[in-house]
Amino acid sequence: MQTETHTGLESPRGTWWKPAHKHEKIWISIAFAWCMVLIAMMPLWHWKGGQNPSGIRGRTTPAAYMERVQEFITQYQVGDDRGIPIVAPPPGADVYLAAFSFQWMPILKLQEGVEYTLHLSSIDVNHGFSLYPINVNFQVVPGYDYGLRVTPNASGDFRIICNEFCGIGHHLMVGRVIVDPAPATASAGGVR
Ligand code: CUA
Repeated sequence: MQTETHTGLESPRGTWWKPAHKHEKIWISIAFAWCMVLIAMMPLWHWKGGQNPSGIRGRTTPAAYMERVQEFITQYQVGDDRGIPIVAPPPGADVYLAAFSFQWMPILKLQEGVEYTLHLSSIDVNHGFSLYPINVNFQVVPGYDYGLRVTPNASGDFRIICNEFCGIGHHLMVGRVIVDPAPATASAGGVR
């Protein structure tokens, strides 16, 4: 009959370990040094990586944000696409985009080469703002208003894809941004 009990606090009996081999020590030293490099990269990238969001952020509530979006739509609406308003704000304007399950509201009509402050917030759960086919990704969080300073540098008809799983309709959550070519470079459109 087995009467012995083992706990994780006591070493098992017998020779169950050997001193680390020289190669293993070298390998651990290399891995440790590389960990230190990666740790140093984190603050370094924060300052030098050029990937921090440009702009402002603040607290909001879903109700207050949606109200601001409605106001923005009323002010600058120029049409609609299957019930979703198309909004063309003037150069330099504050642009408000709302994410909610499972839609982006409204459709934005912007101008190439002009700076806007693009506000992003969610009305319900976390969504992800991803501008296809351009490599722009941003978390859209309820309760926070992120104002990103953006200047479209390519004209075209772009799609906003939700890249944060947000529920049963996540894969249908596609929005639209139309960028009109700048008047002077109307023929030179394209992704830079
Ligand atoms: Cu919204 Cu996924």
